[in-house]
Amino acid sequence: MIAAPQKELVLNHEEVHIWSLSLSVPPICIDRLQQVLSEHECHRVSQFRFERDRNQFITCRGLLRYILSLYLYQDPGQLQLSSNAFGKPHLRTHNTTEQQDLRFNYSHADRLAVFAFARRREIGVDVELIRPDVARESIPEHFFCKAEVATLRALQLEIQGDAFFECWTRKEAYIKARGEGFRIPLNSFDVSSDHLVADQENSHWSLQSFVPAPGYVAALVTEGQGWRTRFIQSPRRFFTQQEGVPCCIY
Ligand SMILES: CC(C)(COP(=O)(O)OP(=O)(O)OC[C@H]1O[C@@H](n2cnc3c(N)ncnc32)[C@H](O)[C@@H]1OP(=O)(O)O)[C@@H](O)C(=O)NCCC(=O)NCCS
Repeated sequence: MIAAPQKELVLNHEEVHIWSLSLSVPPICIDRLQQVLSEHECHRVSQFRFERDRNQFITCRGLLRYILSLYLYQDPGQLQLSSNAFGKPHLRTHNTTEQQDLRFNYSHADRLAVFAFARRREIGVDVELIRPDVARESIPEHFFCKAEVATLRALQLEIQGDAFFECWTRKEAYIKARGEGFRIPLNSFDVSSDHLVADQENSHWSLQSFVPAPGYVAALVTEGQGWRTRFIQSPRRFFTQQEGVPCCIY
């Protein structure tokens, strides 16, 4: 069972909530999280070859369910999740307005997971661990649009690594917000602007980059404009220390 909330968690229509949580959790917490997974999720768990990938999936899905339960006042194990044809998860049952309205997405990289929640607007989030050398390769020339490549290559070499991952996370967050994955060609839209995605449909998608933890960069893309972000970051306190029971930390 989840511990009682310290205070009410309210997600307004004009807000987006971002949770950044460490994936370095003790085995007892992983066991607890696995208990709330669905049969389908447990099947996915069984298909991972490496323990590290298995534990990451359990931790991400378990944390997702616990956070969703805070917004929906429901048992995390009872929530029914499904995915679209391209893998984007969503809530399957819509018994209440809260369920109908709630949109979410998450991403993980190395030891960090970032979860994003909004109401009545589609949302996509991506996080990456910055690896400076990647920008020196020809990945941008292959995947970025011309304006993005020009912007990146005009920078001093030592800051191109950070800039590359900022651009990359924006692009992934956009295709994740749209929910169609890599079916959308990465060079068919431009994320050079700090606020709006420029795509072929005269975009109504807005974007925001942020640093969820030192060494990482993340981006959020959300339908429409005029929302504000609330960051919820206190990874060490997600679990009670003795028993590994998830508890509220916001
Ligand atoms: C979505 C995608 C860009 C994520 O890439 P990534 O950087 O490797 O992974 P991230 O950690 O950022 O995100 C993974 C999470 O994004 C979510 N996700 C998966 N597919 C998604 C999609 N199409 N749109 C939005 N979110 C998606 C899931 O929650 C996934 O976590 P899970 O594997 O634990 O369920 C990539 O997996 C993709 O393009 N998938 C689409 C594949 C596809 O088109 N399949 C067609 C099936 S025929």
